Amino acid sequence: MTSKEIRNQFLQFFKDKEHKIVPSAPVVPYDDPTLLFTNAGMNQFKDVFLGQGTRDYKRAADTQKCIRVSGKHNDLEEVGRDTYHHTFFEMLGNWSFGDYYKKEAITWAWELMTDVWKLPKERLWATVFRTDDEAFEIWKNHTDINPAHILRFDEKDNFWEMGETGPCGPSSEIHINLSDDYDNPELVNADDPMCIELWNLVFIQSFRDADGMLHDLPQKHIDTGMGFERVVAVLNGKNSNYDTDIFIPLLENIAELSGKKYEGENEAAMRVIADHVRTLTFAIADGAIPGNEGRSYVLRRILRRAARFGRELDLNKPFLYKLVDVVIDEAGGGMGEVFPEIKGNRENIKKVILAEEESFNLTLDRGIVLFENIIASSGKEKKISGEDVFKLYDTYGFPVDLVELMAREKGFDVDIKGFEALMFEQKQRARESTKKKIAGAYDVDGIEQNFDFDNIPQTLFCGYEKLKKITTVLDFITKEHTSFIILPETPFYSESGGQVSDKGELVVEGNEFEVLRVLKIKGRVIHVVENKNGFEFKKGMSILAEVEEEFRWDVMRNHSATHFLHATLRKVLGTHVKQAGSHVNGERLRFDFTHFSKLTEEEIEKIEKRINTAIRKNIELTHHRDIPFEEAKKMGALMFFGDKYGDKVNVVQFGDYSVEFCGGTHVQNSSQIECFKITQETSVASGVRRIEAVTGKGAEAYLYAKEHELKTAGEKIAKLNEEKRKLEKTIADLEIKSKLGGLDSILNSPVKVKDIPVFKGEVAAASMDELKTMADELRVKMKSGVGVLISPIGEKVGIVAVVSDDLIKEKKLLAGKIVGQIAKVVGGGGGGRPHLATAGGKDVSKIPDALAAVESVVESQS
Ligand code: ALA
Repeated sequence: MTSKEIRNQFLQFFKDKEHKIVPSAPVVPYDDPTLLFTNAGMNQFKDVFLGQGTRDYKRAADTQKCIRVSGKHNDLEEVGRDTYHHTFFEMLGNWSFGDYYKKEAITWAWELMTDVWKLPKERLWATVFRTDDEAFEIWKNHTDINPAHILRFDEKDNFWEMGETGPCGPSSEIHINLSDDYDNPELVNADDPMCIELWNLVFIQSFRDADGMLHDLPQKHIDTGMGFERVVAVLNGKNSNYDTDIFIPLLENIAELSGKKYEGENEAAMRVIADHVRTLTFAIADGAIPGNEGRSYVLRRILRRAARFGRELDLNKPFLYKLVDVVIDEAGGGMGEVFPEIKGNRENIKKVILAEEESFNLTLDRGIVLFENIIASSGKEKKISGEDVFKLYDTYGFPVDLVELMAREKGFDVDIKGFEALMFEQKQRARESTKKKIAGAYDVDGIEQNFDFDNIPQTLFCGYEKLKKITTVLDFITKEHTSFIILPETPFYSESGGQVSDKGELVVEGNEFEVLRVLKIKGRVIHVVENKNGFEFKKGMSILAEVEEEFRWDVMRNHSATHFLHATLRKVLGTHVKQAGSHVNGERLRFDFTHFSKLTEEEIEKIEKRINTAIRKNIELTHHRDIPFEEAKKMGALMFFGDKYGDKVNVVQFGDYSVEFCGGTHVQNSSQIECFKITQETSVASGVRRIEAVTGKGAEAYLYAKEHELKTAGEKIAKLNEEKRKLEKTIADLEIKSKLGGLDSILNSPVKVKDIPVFKGEVAAASMDELKTMADELRVKMKSGVGVLISPIGEKVGIVAVVSDDLIKEKKLLAGKIVGQIAKVVGGGGGGRPHLATAGGKDVSKIPDALAAVESVVESQS
């Protein structure tokens, strides 16, 4: 049987039992800070179990994409070593929300396994929680399981919890023993690869809070989860999940890429790669990106782990990205058919993986050098110190399990405790520094424990329509100078979906209290206000809650503009653009999205122009509140990392320009955004770009800032120009001065013509005026005599002659005559007054001849 057939049989079985078949939620949870990745089918129904949300059906079934790599359910270390754990897997599940309970859950599971799938009853085992007599009896009396195959286990094995906090309850599991020793109870829950758990039926009835306390839930629910890859293996008579159509195409391709067979010591590495590439493909398709923090860091570790195992197979160049097509088109009969989101994001997934592989290869090479040095310089002890592991981790980004693996290969131990201590210190330092940042303000950590939430209803949000609300104090506490106030209804928005909390004040009996923060905990909004004078609040007091209008409008403009930006990016750059993060405050909006190259100036302009055109079109907001998810999907609403599927959702629509899932607050009409301007476009991680932009008042401020910059720049330029002019003048003066300096040698070496001192020489004047200035200077300094200066000026020749007054008088020497005659030598002519005359000539090459002619000219005229 193919995996596709098995999946469909499961879903059909529960459809026939009146279950609604729902889509898998994304692997990246949208609004659950307790989870990095979706780790169980029930995640998307957590709110229903907790009594906070509802669905319009009471029974559901699906196949859920799960990733278990962190937190309470972490299988990372098992993957590869065994043949039945995965970082990514599908969980087949059926649910009852306050509807059927243990009996149906158990008997239907048995029916599917033994009637439909005909699994051998003698190999099946059921486990129940040690005190759960009810489940025990149902197995015994309502199924035909061998009663000796019903076993009791304690919390570790038969009490299921979603995480440190959250819904939980006793469970009953079905195991299969494929070994020859299949009647042996000792093998159940003993980590034996031949005796594995297939299906977990959880009877959700409690909630564990942050203090570890269990509380009864208002209703009882069923939550089941079956390991799809395991059941496919078992139904095909395989002992390993990797021997099924889900993994064979991957292993074949890895074998081909590496030129090695899936056998012996290659097996574990190949399994790791086949497993991890599925995780990467699905996680990236749902919007996660490898990076440095939280979820991104976990993903980076997985990629590095796979790449590092690739090196074990001599796959030293990027190769993981090549397997993405295999996941989408071949594995499991083509996972892209079942989960179209991976098909739609194919190119982006490959690019992200390739970029990350390339950068890791560089890191790996550098780190390996350091690692080798550490090994070479270590003493007899054969241990890598915590400091060194920390350095490899912190500076070179080496995952710790990778260091352990490399150390093991060299027969070295790793001081993990030492490493963990350093990690702890680092975290402590980070914590201290954030603490310092908010020191002196107000400590809100765990504040909700001061309230009796069981008796306080969830707060109604009336801030979509109103910014002011007269209401009453429902509950409060005061600590030093801070009061924490809960109202039945509030116009105050509390930070979520990237939109910051509102600002404003609460007014009671004429006293105004500034709202410092707005917290939303388990649906209750807590207004944190400054209470310097120790005002005594009382329950039931009339109170005015008033949001600061201007601030809220700034935020709404930015939030609505974010939707226009998202839609426009997809139009201009392509539908591979997905939101990777968003933050909206009163000053600006910030939007991170998947895209591979820097935006060009033309693209940015195009985006801005389209948005501003849309803004001017007065597009009306249609706010669909609490509509069924399916309806929203039909409208083509854009999802972020995935809203809660099956839930009632809010959709924000601006005509046919933008339709998005969103709980935030928005302008009524696009023209209220006023204006949109991108102020920055940068990269945040490989494959993720960030745009910062402003609207309305922010755009106005931006415009003024730019105008001011231009004005100051203009003033600066004018000032520089003035300085330039001054400098040019100084330079010209200096040049003349230095040229005049050249006159000295002419003054020092006159030739005598009939007792008349003749001063002559070639100079370098830039213009005729300059030449004249020099001649004037010569005339003053020579006192008595004839002076002739010749200079090339551009392509031409300039000549100046000067005669001192005494010689004009006594010898009748005339500068005009002298210069005219000399000019002839250079092919020109000129004249002037007796004491100074100028001439021009054409032939620069004749300057020496002209100079040589000076004496004879003077002689002939004296
Ligand atoms: N939520 C249960 C599990 O994940 C079914 O095992």
